[in-house]
Amino acid sequence: MQPQNGGLYVDGTLGAGGHARGILEACAPDGRLLGLDVDPQALAIARKILAPYEHRIHLAQASYTSLSKQLEKIGWVAVDGIVLDLGASSMQFDTPERGFSFMEDAPLDMRFGPHVPQTAADLVNKLSERELADLIYRYGEERDSRRIARAIVRARPLHTTRELVSAIQAVSHRRGERLNPATRTFQALRIAVNEELASIEAVLPQAVEALTPGGRLAVISFHSLEDRIVKDFMRQQSRDLVNPPYERIYETERKATLKEVNRKPITPSEAEIQNNPRARSAKLRIAEKL
Ligand SMILES: C[S@@+](CC[C@H](N)C(=O)[O-])C[C@H]1O[C@@H](n2cnc3c(N)ncnc32)[C@H](O)[C@@H]1O
Repeated sequence: MQPQNGGLYVDGTLGAGGHARGILEACAPDGRLLGLDVDPQALAIARKILAPYEHRIHLAQASYTSLSKQLEKIGWVAVDGIVLDLGASSMQFDTPERGFSFMEDAPLDMRFGPHVPQTAADLVNKLSERELADLIYRYGEERDSRRIARAIVRARPLHTTRELVSAIQAVSHRRGERLNPATRTFQALRIAVNEELASIEAVLPQAVEALTPGGRLAVISFHSLEDRIVKDFMRQQSRDLVNPPYERIYETERKATLKEVNRKPITPSEAEIQNNPRARSAKLRIAEKL
């Protein structure tokens, strides 16, 4: 992101404030940062960690999908950098009662924040077998989605992560695999509960709009579904659209708005993965506003 003294930056996924602190250090003494997170617990922790920079930060419990509105609220017309570190935080995974982890027994919650209208329990108990199978296939890229959906419907009502794990394990054929058989179903439910993919699609155009020319958008994704959206968006926006395909008649000719800084995503080194195994699937893509 190349933060500079005096610049304005946004961390749309504040978490525990690690990236925010790095940015604030790099744009000292006068750069400022807007930090957003939907999770009040994350925000409380970030607020403490970022206390030394109090006079240079604005923090809000809000979704990054409301980026334009949040910027308008504080009167920032254009910003120099935006970072999005997608998905759930280690803190959320490691708080058993949030229900993100299949290693712990907890209520099937998985909401990033209290504004999210439905929990994972609502989805597993209310959707039809077909809808569940589609959801697990689409958001979990799980080949056994039909079998798992059938097992879930048979085991209903399900209230806890352990009950869900047992239902999945009972029909799993792939015992020798490195991944726990519940991994993909948990990922799928988390994405669906929080409407994660739609949120990414909603924020990217707002981010481009908010950046000043030369400003950078940096996005870290953790699985192929997220990465595909980011990659496709950055690629499309990096090309002039001269002759829109006839099926997309709503699009008119437009000039490229971004330049990809790295065509291949930046991935963690072996040393970083050793230090933080959860980083292993991270991909960082950066684009610069033209
Ligand atoms: C991977 S963590 C970020 C960790 C952070 N970069 C740090 O340094 O600690 C992702 C964070 O994004 C938050 N989040 C997820 N969806 C969001 C959304 N739509 N708007 C704002 N925050 C969101 C989650 O609550 C979580 O705290």
